[in-house]
This record gives sequence, structure tokens and C-alpha cells, in this order.
Amino acid sequence: MRAITRRTAAIHRRPAPATIGQEPMSPLWTPLLDIRDLPQRSVARSAAAVAKSLGSGLTLGRAGMTEDVLQGYATAAADLVVRFEQVSSAQLYEPVADLLPSRASAIVDIGAGTGRDAAWLADKGHEVVAVEPVGELRHAGMTLHRSERIEWLNDRLPDLRDLRSRKRRFDCVLLSAVWQHLHNDERRIAMHSLGDLTARGGLLIMSLRHGPGEPSRRVYETRAEDTIDAALRTGFKLIRERRADSIQDANRTSGVHWTWLAFGMP
Ligand SMILES: C[S@@+](CC[C@H](N)C(=O)[O-])C[C@H]1O[C@@H](n2cnc3c(N)ncnc32)[C@H](O)[C@@H]1O
Repeated sequence: MRAITRRTAAIHRRPAPATIGQEPMSPLWTPLLDIRDLPQRSVARSAAAVAKSLGSGLTLGRAGMTEDVLQGYATAAADLVVRFEQVSSAQLYEPVADLLPSRASAIVDIGAGTGRDAAWLADKGHEVVAVEPVGELRHAGMTLHRSERIEWLNDRLPDLRDLRSRKRRFDCVLLSAVWQHLHNDERRIAMHSLGDLTARGGLLIMSLRHGPGEPSRRVYETRAEDTIDAALRTGFKLIRERRADSIQDANRTSGVHWTWLAFGMP
């Protein structure tokens, strides 16, 4: 958990674009545009307001193997928005913090959730593409973390079709707490997509979840060895492998822990 008032102040300073990234705000979120104008409101209260306003307006795009997982996130979005926003990005990324770019860079956060980490990175001067396929989470993020340095995109692994069609490569590709939702066939394709998106000299940083998950958001076993093998076959070099405990109490209590992996693209 972290103090949230500092980031609220940052949100208050940001300009409010009519559109965020390339996606217009949906009418569902329009009343929340005034959140930043309310003095003394914390991000947590904003997150609660966003969560409360969540309806059943999910429109998921392409059908696919991950559809049930995404539906699970959409259904639980009201709780998850608050939970995700309570996590400290600095604490989460501590196992790889020294590897994150120190100069302004192009970063993509895949499975960005509410954009907590995208906002943290944008505040450091990076240009961030936040890829999130669940509309409820993406729109909550657009409302909570308005920044001209964040572009939101509705796309999904394993192909990341829209993102890859741009032929853009990133200095840093992030995947925090997403890999467990892909099964082995999808992971093979996904690793190829991640390789395609990583610039030469760039980094892929990902966390692997070990332990049980919510039945409504299916998880598959993750093994560091398998992931490293797949990454090496894609052309990455392993830079770091580090075990980490869960930050969230509920996950720690249920025996969840993590492996952070960082790869370089020579
Ligand atoms: C456990 S949450 C982590 C969110 C965020 N990265 C964080 O650390 O708070 C998993 C995220 O991955 C997203 N996700 C699940 N399957 C995905 C897929 N196939 N492609 C992209 N994102 C996916 C979910 O919508 C959710 O936002």
C-alpha cells in the first residue's frame, strides 16, 4: 500500500485532453472527467468512484482463447480497479528497478490494467503505450491517469495484432502479471510477438505468477525455465531471474509468489 496524495496532485496538474490516446472517452466515463477538479480527492477515492460507476457495458472485441479470462476481469472490474490502484509501482518493480530505462524511452505495458504503472513511468518522462483488452479497466485507467505521455490501446496477446501492425519497436516491453493467463500454445505465439516489439538493445521485463488464481480468471502454471527457453529461442538474452513475494496480502496468504525475468534483445 502507498500514500496516494502525491500522485493525485500530479493528476490535478495534468491537462485534460478531449481524447486520450486514440480512443474517445465513452459516455459512461464522461461525468468522471471532473474528478481532477475536485480538491482533496485521493486516487483511491477516485478509483472507488470509477469502480462504483462500472456497469455491465463490456464489449469485448475478437473472440479467442482468452475470452473467458477477459470476461472474468470485466466482471470483477469494480473491485479490481481499487485493488490495482493500491499497489505501489515502485515496490512492485523493485526486483528489476535498476534495469528500467533512466532516460526518456518508448515503453509498452501489455496487460496494463488500470494504467498504474504506465502513469508511474509517464511521470518519469517516458512515452508509454498501455495495452489493455478489458474495456472496464482501460476506461478506468483513462479516467484515473490522464497523461499526454500515455496512449491507450485495445489489443491482446498472443498476437497483439493492432500494435504489431504499426511496425513500432520499444526500448522496454513490460508484462506484469499477465503470462499466467496464457496457455502454452498462446505463449509460443506471444513470445514471438514480444520479440517483434522489442528494439535491438531493448528490454523485455515480465513477472510470472506461481500459485493458485481466481477460478473466474483462469491461470496456467508458469515455469521460469520454460519461459527462459522460449525467450532464448526468440533471440533474447537472459539478464535477470529473481523470485519475489506477493505485495498484495490476499495473494501472499494464498501462497502466490512471483519470478521476475528480464531479457535483453541484442
Ligand atoms: C493481474 S492483472 C495485472 C494488471 C497490471 N499489469 C498490474 O500489474 O496491475 C492481468 C492483466 O492482464 C490483462 N490480460 C489478460 N489476458 C490478456 C491478454 N491475452 N492480452 C493482454 N492482456 C491480458 C487483464 O485484462 C489484466 O489487466
